[in-house]
Amino acid sequence: NGPATVGPTGKPTGAARTDVAQGGAYLTTAQGARLYDTDHSLKAGARGPVLLQDHHLREKITHFDHERIPERVVHARGAAAHGIFQGYGTASKVTKAAFLGKDVETPVFVRFSTVLGSRGSSDTVRDTRGFATKFYTEEGTFDLVGNNIPVFFIQDAIKFPDIIHAGKPHPDREIPQAQSAHDTFWDFVTLHTEATHHTLWNMSDRGIPRSYRMMEGFGVHTFRLVNLEGATTLVKFHWKPKLGVHSLVWEEAQLVNGMDPDFHRRDLADAIEAGAYPQWELGIQTFPDTPEQVFEGIDLLDPTNIVPEELAPVQPIGLLTLNANPTNFFAETEQVAFHPGHLVPGIDITDDPLLSGRLFSYLDTQISRLGGPNFAQIPINRTHAPVNDMLRDGMHQTAVHSGAAPYRPNSLDGGCPFLAGADTGAYIEVPREVPAARKVREAPASFADHFSQPRLFWLSMTPVEREHIIAAYTFELNKCYEQSVKERALKVLANIDPELCEQVATGLGLPAPAATVTLTTPEPSPALSQLGQSWPLD
Ligand code: HEM
Repeated sequence: NGPATVGPTGKPTGAARTDVAQGGAYLTTAQGARLYDTDHSLKAGARGPVLLQDHHLREKITHFDHERIPERVVHARGAAAHGIFQGYGTASKVTKAAFLGKDVETPVFVRFSTVLGSRGSSDTVRDTRGFATKFYTEEGTFDLVGNNIPVFFIQDAIKFPDIIHAGKPHPDREIPQAQSAHDTFWDFVTLHTEATHHTLWNMSDRGIPRSYRMMEGFGVHTFRLVNLEGATTLVKFHWKPKLGVHSLVWEEAQLVNGMDPDFHRRDLADAIEAGAYPQWELGIQTFPDTPEQVFEGIDLLDPTNIVPEELAPVQPIGLLTLNANPTNFFAETEQVAFHPGHLVPGIDITDDPLLSGRLFSYLDTQISRLGGPNFAQIPINRTHAPVNDMLRDGMHQTAVHSGAAPYRPNSLDGGCPFLAGADTGAYIEVPREVPAARKVREAPASFADHFSQPRLFWLSMTPVEREHIIAAYTFELNKCYEQSVKERALKVLANIDPELCEQVATGLGLPAPAATVTLTTPEPSPALSQLGQSWPLD
């Protein structure tokens, strides 16, 4: 807003008025006229017709009629909290991001969510969970828009509408509401086998967390950090909960679903209210920024891959503490708008084709969800850094811009220097060579292996975790109507592990097919000291 101006009565006028919510001693209309009755419509006599001239009646009902905004197209159901992030300073070797400096404290807002269910769906369904963090840093807002599963279903954002259409309720019957137990989901993930790894994580205990406070979080994509000297490092972000990682068992999840559909949001809010503040350490896996962007044979641009922590340990760089509940769900949890392109100096993106599509999608969807292009002015979305942009007007503009020349350079308004160099703290994209290439619609050959990493995950499971996975596949696939979908799902499982495939096949009453790929059992990981490629931060 513009500078405060004071009117003849000594009261602030124009841009300085910010007391828009329940500030006065009397009940008023939206225009500030005091009311003497809000329970009776204006009528021609106590038993007579209601009069159209009752402005209070019309204002009250009209506003109510427009209270709902569209829910998020995905991640509609969520719960959030405020908190503080404290940098350890350990990342300063690899990034110039000021908020990661030693003991720097940054306010944050974190929203957890399910992906598929609508706003009113249950919390304890089998699904991926969103873990989105807004860091209100002094250099601008940084959003880490991650999930509780370290890989994603697809490798290219162009398939995102397709996987979501497949995962959302069937368009004819609008069921199921929030579960992956249905034909289109399994049809998609068995025809697009890059989804195998994410699906396997979903069928594991990670798909039914005990609490938002007990989930890991992952940035999923590989990001590029740059330090003060301009040296770059590729990284993956991880959140590690201080309470450890815990899950429900399936029977618990189902019971809780019925008894308390708000189980996760209640748990988060109650814990914070009781002063049991949940905490996570932020950590990074570091990889050399080679032209290939491959580490130990793993393509770092493929978001269906993890890098095992035995190969690149997660090194802690800061501590997140959630210590305050939102005051108003709509104003904060519902209206918050995250974006993976909200970056600060020191943190840059890579050419992961899934990330590229996300950079377009979030702003686009928020323009329709939040009613126009000015949602950065909504309190929860306001940056804590000073803003001096040239964005003007638009639906729901609340800023009162001064001056006549919103362009730079101009010779009329003066204004700030607009050419920013490294020394001004500007966000500067890391210059990278773009290899000479043909224009193609194709994936690199290195994106073609869809089964080695799922097998690695399966082999890392304990016997009881394997039992849970088998039970989950059996339950979910048994809900499919189409026999051919179940049969194709078994073919995918055969390419992960014969035991997994046989057990699920028995549960479905179908024969177990043979694998169509060569199943390998990975060698034990080399000792870290032999790797010499991922480096310690201290
Ligand atoms: C929302 C994570 C891939 C489009 C979200 C949210 C999270 C998230 C956590 C909820 C944010 C909130 O709490 O408000 C991820 C992760 C992905 C991924 C980790 C892959 C690694 C994609 C892709 C697209 C996409 C590929 C589209 C091309 C959206 C949209 C929303 C959303 C449209 C709703 C945003 C809003 O209405 O504010 N995503 N997502 N996501 N995501 Fe993603």
